[in-house]
Amino acid sequence: MDGLSEREFESFRNLVKKHIGISFDRTKKAVLQRKLALRVNSLGLESYGKYYLYLLQEKESKGELRQLINTLTVDQTAFFRHLKQFELLANILLPQVAIQKNTIKKLRIWSAGCATGQEAYSIAMVVNDMFKEDHTWDIRILASDIDTDALKFAYRGLYTKESIKQVPTEYLNRYFRRGTGKDSGLFQVNEDLKNRLLFRRLNFVDFNFPFKSPVDIIFCRNVMIYFDTEVKKRLIDNFFRLLEPDGFLCLGTSESLIGVDDRFALVGHFVYQKRG
Ligand SMILES: C[S@@+](CC[C@H](N)C(=O)[O-])C[C@H]1O[C@@H](n2cnc3c(N)ncnc32)[C@H](O)[C@@H]1O
Repeated sequence: MDGLSEREFESFRNLVKKHIGISFDRTKKAVLQRKLALRVNSLGLESYGKYYLYLLQEKESKGELRQLINTLTVDQTAFFRHLKQFELLANILLPQVAIQKNTIKKLRIWSAGCATGQEAYSIAMVVNDMFKEDHTWDIRILASDIDTDALKFAYRGLYTKESIKQVPTEYLNRYFRRGTGKDSGLFQVNEDLKNRLLFRRLNFVDFNFPFKSPVDIIFCRNVMIYFDTEVKKRLIDNFFRLLEPDGFLCLGTSESLIGVDDRFALVGHFVYQKRG
């Protein structure tokens, strides 16, 4: 098959940006081509041009756009990634929210771009631990991603020994059980922890978020790095509107709000607080 021409590259990058906000600049042309080739080959098409037309034909491409999105997204993640933020969550963010919400006793957390679930389960373990004595709280943790394969994996909650090595032993004993039969050697998140989470496919570009009440803490880590400034600004503006006054926003360690939004104050370790 011929390589991806400049014109095709432009067409695909515009299509991808329009649908999911991810921007492939010129330096990422080879990456985009490699990922597109996976879809072109699996459909048995002869060229990138034919694949583009296929995507545009609504009826035939039903579901293909979703497949392409699943192929293009990067779902690299880990339990307790950026450990310092989980320490902040336990020692500063949750205690502050617990004081502020002491009368309505409602806690809302969103793992936005949760990939295969490790981030959302890590949050749930810390939250569970903090509220284990007090069952009067209405707690919801939303775990969302655009990638349906990653979400299915997250919902299953079955992880390798290698991937759970960052989970503290105490949590491992409390929230996981060893897989049996075909799952032997794997570790299964227990149902109680899973029931803390609500999994949803949400696209940041649609900005159609299912919240009835404001959110206390948003984790959106290692997602914005794939977006250009315009998409970042719209996303952060939406987070600002969804957050409680004084709500928190946790970003990845190579992300920042500088030049994006100045309505947040830095708490530390890439955690920001909305100025209420
Ligand atoms: C590198 S992972 C980050 C996972 C986790 N937050 C962490 O830091 O470990 C980035 C995730 O963002 C998701 N993503 C990318 N574009 C998105 C969009 N437009 N809407 C929703 N999720 C998106 C990807 O599917 C991927 O799972």
